[in-house]
Amino acid sequence: MHITHVGQPRSRVDGRKKVTGAATYAAEFTAPDLAQGYIVSSAIARGKIRTIDVTAALAVPGVIQVFTHENRPRTAWRGSKYQDEVAPPGTPFRALYDETIVYSGQPIALVVAEDFEIARYAASLVRVTYAPERHETDLEKVREKAYVPPKKRSGIRPPPNPRGDSETAFAAAPVKVEGEYRIAMEHHNPMEPHATTVVWEGDGKITVHDKIQGAQNSQAYITNVFGLSKGDVRVVAPFIGGAFGSGLRPQYQLFLAVMATLELRRSVRVVLTRDQMFTFGFRPDGLQSFSVAANEDATLQSIRHDLIQNTSHFEDYQEATVNWSAMLYHCENVTTTYKLAKLDTYTPADMRAPGSPTGLFALESALDELSHKLGIDPVQLRLKNYAEVDEGEGKPFTSKELRAAYQLGAERFGWARRNPEPRSMREGRELIGWGMATGMWEANMMKTSARAILTADGRLEVGTATADIGTGTYTILTQIAADALGLPMEKVTALVGDSDLPMSPVEGGSWGAASAGTAVELACHAVREKLFNHAKGINDSPLGGAKVNEVAFRDERIALISDPSRSVSIAEAMRAGGVDRIEAEETASPSKITQARYASYTHSAVFVEVRVDEELGQIRVTRVVDAVAAGRILNPKTARSQIMGGVVFGIGMALHEESMTDHNLGRFMNHNLAEYHLPVNADVENIDVIFVEEKDNLTSPIGVKGLGEIGICGTAAAIANALFHATGKRVRQLPITIDKVLAE
Ligand code: MOS
Repeated sequence: MHITHVGQPRSRVDGRKKVTGAATYAAEFTAPDLAQGYIVSSAIARGKIRTIDVTAALAVPGVIQVFTHENRPRTAWRGSKYQDEVAPPGTPFRALYDETIVYSGQPIALVVAEDFEIARYAASLVRVTYAPERHETDLEKVREKAYVPPKKRSGIRPPPNPRGDSETAFAAAPVKVEGEYRIAMEHHNPMEPHATTVVWEGDGKITVHDKIQGAQNSQAYITNVFGLSKGDVRVVAPFIGGAFGSGLRPQYQLFLAVMATLELRRSVRVVLTRDQMFTFGFRPDGLQSFSVAANEDATLQSIRHDLIQNTSHFEDYQEATVNWSAMLYHCENVTTTYKLAKLDTYTPADMRAPGSPTGLFALESALDELSHKLGIDPVQLRLKNYAEVDEGEGKPFTSKELRAAYQLGAERFGWARRNPEPRSMREGRELIGWGMATGMWEANMMKTSARAILTADGRLEVGTATADIGTGTYTILTQIAADALGLPMEKVTALVGDSDLPMSPVEGGSWGAASAGTAVELACHAVREKLFNHAKGINDSPLGGAKVNEVAFRDERIALISDPSRSVSIAEAMRAGGVDRIEAEETASPSKITQARYASYTHSAVFVEVRVDEELGQIRVTRVVDAVAAGRILNPKTARSQIMGGVVFGIGMALHEESMTDHNLGRFMNHNLAEYHLPVNADVENIDVIFVEEKDNLTSPIGVKGLGEIGICGTAAAIANALFHATGKRVRQLPITIDKVLAE
């Protein structure tokens, strides 16, 4: 029987490599004569370096050089040269640029030595004196200075124009909820720290192994900053040990490692320590003020969502945070505003569905409060105000099976048995709460190229420069390619993470599968046509005068659909054409018409059970059902892992993760995995993932909408809502820690 792969639960093709250690990460590549760098970080948050004395460091045997702003080699002068493909407006941070300190933890020197421990020891001997200036890291203190970003960040939709009159409608409505909501700043904390190994190939050429979600983003950054040509710089990053957005932009260790390599004409590796992982981008906090009002019959009358989010002094980071409040529900009077305020920190970075879980925490918490006040079931409230179109932009959705997600999720969870009364369920010392929330995230496709090479032995290689950031990209590209040419997966090799491969943007925004998947399919179809034309050239071809749409590529052969006994093998077709390989490169572009006329989003319905120890205030998330509508599912196994990971991050956001700042020092204090709490196995119990059937042929030609991020989107809000149901306590500030549960 003929076997196809797309839609089937296939194990990861790179799984064995990963668990056996054969997968090579940025800091594991090596080179002859490899030198090691160690970074010295600033101890103050703002001011100037008065003196930096490297004499003692240089005197340590084995130290090769110490780089500071005083001896930094010349690099590009214009700030725009440092802008990478996802940079927000502004001038990116430039390491060792001058004596100015703009945030605590800023790299101020790079010690390069024969080995890592020598470099680390020597770094401790670098003596720095500062002229500190007053810094501000407290968002509350700069609230009054908030501004509407003058320049929009490319790819980020600004909040839609207000519709109706939310204030008048709010005043007139009988049932209302108003509140201030806050999340914590969070750091991505991938298992693999950021690292760059630069191999000096001689003759001014370098091969760079960088922790990056898009090899060509690092390549372009290096060529712009160091004035090199593309041919001199190859970036190879086949495996990424988690990134969650921290690897979208080239980070300062890349700059430092390349700078040192070019200057020393010798291979150099720079690895960040875990605490240095807290010295660049993070998820911004925000001051969110949210209000919603309804009629007695639960029809929404007014929504208002205002946000002030922190950014750095040098860039205007932006994300879509309040937009969800303008499109998730039907409501005639809606106002959303988005402002920034500058702090003496690094620029925030995209992190795990940037903006969505933040904004949805306010929206979905407030709707839960509203349903309680109205005495209506939270799911019913959402169904009653279901948005049939994106009312923010006035566009229909490409697809939206959220109703089915509510229904299937509720059924699986047993939601019908819920007693709406808070504190109504208990087992021993534990209060039990059931809460739910809606999740929503963008479904994007990005212009991407791919190539396919079929050889006479029936092997197929496909490649595109995107990354596999742990999402299963290698696997789904292999499935798509195998099906396109009717091959077993073992005969297909997928290549990603190499700047030499055809053009791809960074893997982010959950667009990888829709974009790279479509590109690979197009390239395979081009190969298929060429192969078919060769097959037709066979004397008395079994395919006769068939057209390409009248044959099937299956079981490593080309067969007539009407009579599968008439077929040609790949080798026979190539022989007839006098070739031993067929190659094609294609570019997949999103439809401009779809983008102009439609809104494309993924949705989810998240149902959560928490158990709260009433005396200790301890919260456990004992059960999660996440019903996801994300278009066609290429591989239910890797897809399920994506959603489970997202849900775990939602648990982290709701209960654990918090980057704490000491405002006196202007510095993140819990910069390690002991004090920055991430959910561990003991925090994660039952997670049940449902994929709702959803047909969408507008977002991408292959029907895919992407699901790397939708798993986190509504989860934190659902947990907060479950906590309310368990305890009767509404917590509006994340993470929900024991002190907040026990507070009177
Ligand atoms: Mo994602 S935060 O675009 O890696």
